[in-house]
Amino acid sequence: MRVDAQQTTGFPAVRLRRLRRTGALRDLVRETRLDLSDFVYPLFVGPDTRPNPDLSALGRFAVDDLVGEVEECVRLGVSAVILFGIPEEKDDEGSGAYADDGIVQRALRALRPRFPELLLLTDVCLCEYTSHGHCGVVANGEIDNDATLPLLARAAVSHVEAGADAVCPSDMMDGRIGAVRAALDGAGFDGTPIVAYSAKYASAFYGPFREAAESAPAFGDRRSYQLDPANVREAVREVELDLAEGADVVMIKPALPNLDVIRAARDRFQVPVAAYNVSGEYAMVKAAAARGWLDERQAAIESLVAIKRAGADIVISYWAKGLASWL
Ligand code: PBG
Repeated sequence: MRVDAQQTTGFPAVRLRRLRRTGALRDLVRETRLDLSDFVYPLFVGPDTRPNPDLSALGRFAVDDLVGEVEECVRLGVSAVILFGIPEEKDDEGSGAYADDGIVQRALRALRPRFPELLLLTDVCLCEYTSHGHCGVVANGEIDNDATLPLLARAAVSHVEAGADAVCPSDMMDGRIGAVRAALDGAGFDGTPIVAYSAKYASAFYGPFREAAESAPAFGDRRSYQLDPANVREAVREVELDLAEGADVVMIKPALPNLDVIRAARDRFQVPVAAYNVSGEYAMVKAAAARGWLDERQAAIESLVAIKRAGADIVISYWAKGLASWL
């Protein structure tokens, strides 16, 4: 028998358990590692501070308290955050999203000078700011794609003016990456990257986020703009189009139900791929852990390793802060 054939088929000479015997050996041959610098921690800023007792990472902070929270994150080793805003008042055009003194803009002005090294990302969308809770403006009961683009572009520019390092459009309107890119370039921000939520599925797993951000749609759902979870070719086209429009990083969301989509993006495109490990993925583990059904830390790390193994370079996760203290 040839030696290599024996090595692929031949027990007892071949025993894969040899490399699993001790922790040191397992460390030596581990294929996927979690590095804090690949993680982004979501933070919610609003008119008041409201801790979330069950889902700690989904609490919200007033600007003053946010500074303290970020201080703690930075001390633990978190290197990037993404900000979401909950405005005091909402209107039909989501004007709080692009107001100079909007909640995210104020948070950025407080954080930027205090944390010069921290990466400040912002979610660019209207849903937290519109009275109807949709990600675009509504005309005749439908989401008006083209009327939404200039508002998103304004929001992105105002975030960068206030100190954001990168903007992350999450609305899923057609053409929004091009609109945001042109507006940033026009405002002199041609060096600011866009992290595009390219393949954002219409998912049940955003539930806890919408409660935290008070952004559930008042009528209908988001299926006329977010992707059908049954489709992967369409996700690849979304990624392709966002790159053509100038996206620097593409994102797949949610992460765990879409590991195949992460892999497809990683294999096809030579750009950084991000994945958003969303609120529902976090909440499922939290709820089960609270009942003693599983260990939160182990389940979290296993989830995050799986997302990285699928090909994500960057992971947005509510466990980023916890991970910082676990690693
Ligand atoms: C805004 C936005 C949402 C999430 C990120 N940006 C909500 C949505 O689209 O309904 C969800 C994040 C999460 O569930 O953790 N459009």
